[in-house]
Amino acid sequence: MVAFKSVSTPEMSTLSQIRLTALSRLAPEVADFLEGGAGDEGTLTANRAAFSRWGFRQRVMSGLDVPDLSTSLLGTDLAMPVLTSPFGADGLFHPDGQKAVARAALAAGIALVVPEAGTHSLEDVVQAAPKAARIAQLHPMGPEQNFLRMLRRIEDAGCQAICLTVDCPTGGWRERVLRNAFDLDARFVGGNYPDDGQTRLIEVFGQLFERSAVVWSWERLASLMAHTHLPWIAKGIMTADDALAAEAAGAAAVYVSNHGGRQLDGVPAALDALVEVARAVDGRLPVLFDSGVRRGADVVKALALGADVVVIGRLAAYGLTAGGQAGVERVLSLLHDEIRTVLTLLGHGGVRDLGPGALVRLDGTDTPM
Ligand SMILES: Cc1cc2nc3c(=O)[nH]c(=O)nc-3n(C[C@H](O)[C@H](O)[C@H](O)COP(=O)(O)O)c2cc1C
Repeated sequence: MVAFKSVSTPEMSTLSQIRLTALSRLAPEVADFLEGGAGDEGTLTANRAAFSRWGFRQRVMSGLDVPDLSTSLLGTDLAMPVLTSPFGADGLFHPDGQKAVARAALAAGIALVVPEAGTHSLEDVVQAAPKAARIAQLHPMGPEQNFLRMLRRIEDAGCQAICLTVDCPTGGWRERVLRNAFDLDARFVGGNYPDDGQTRLIEVFGQLFERSAVVWSWERLASLMAHTHLPWIAKGIMTADDALAAEAAGAAAVYVSNHGGRQLDGVPAALDALVEVARAVDGRLPVLFDSGVRRGADVVKALALGADVVVIGRLAAYGLTAGGQAGVERVLSLLHDEIRTVLTLLGHGGVRDLGPGALVRLDGTDTPM
């Protein structure tokens, strides 16, 4: 069990209800910013559809006790194999933003990934929950001296690891944002750069939103990451080739993600890419996974297909919107209890030993494993 009691209200009775509650509370253009994807939103839809192509190969009378959900990532213990993703502009959803997420993560015994483009500074998020396990996210772009300055701040803030978002050389083609003339710059001020005239944010997000990408290479990344002792995770890996390139550049973990369908429309479902990436790294590095996770059964399927830790993006933002810290706690507690229920019914003793044998294809094709 999670060591805290989450608050259940009719508005937060289930994960799908929390989503509805959240969307009903947001201005339509903010709801679109949260929900939307790139292009025709084909990848956004594919992310969800991929989960329904897999079912469970249920075993009964296992004789097993209550399943063990605990695990660890890069030396950090986790009460369950779940993290919250680095979602920026978090103050649009709740004034406490990632500060509330950090408190909820601490209560649930998991880690959060603090976004570079967050509403509150990294230091303020740490201050809100000093004991929370935390990974800091950075965009590997822009001038090197500012990137290096952030590396120092991340070390000083006592983060356990760094998450580098490598799928963001420019912003995705987001038509809901265009349709609503949604001006993120006008709606959101980044908390990490209050004193320098938002220099780095403008460098980073000026690139993102003006679409004048300056793409870093693995070689450049490897030489800059030699300046920190912290392990780093490459977020946004969708192919075996890039997983191997990240490993060669010194990544301590790879993070399969298509940014929740918000970047390049037309890439496959992240769950399908997970199979390819997990096979390529073959247990040498931990594999994180996100994009499309909406319930505990999805977490179990991703673990069975090779993820070591599953990350929630919009799901955490729904909880934040619906109830601040209590809302994120409710999301985490519902996830925890559903994972435990699914594993028990599946006849599985824990999350660490899940493999493809726990799953069956439901669409009549052969398993790619
Ligand atoms: C509102 C919003 C803001 C986001 N901001 C960032 C960001 O600043 N950096 C980043 O690496 N990913 C960002 N993401 C992507 C998430 O970290 C994550 O990859 C994605 O939400 C996973 O898909 P899911 O929402 O379907 O779970 C953002 C996602 C959302 C919904």
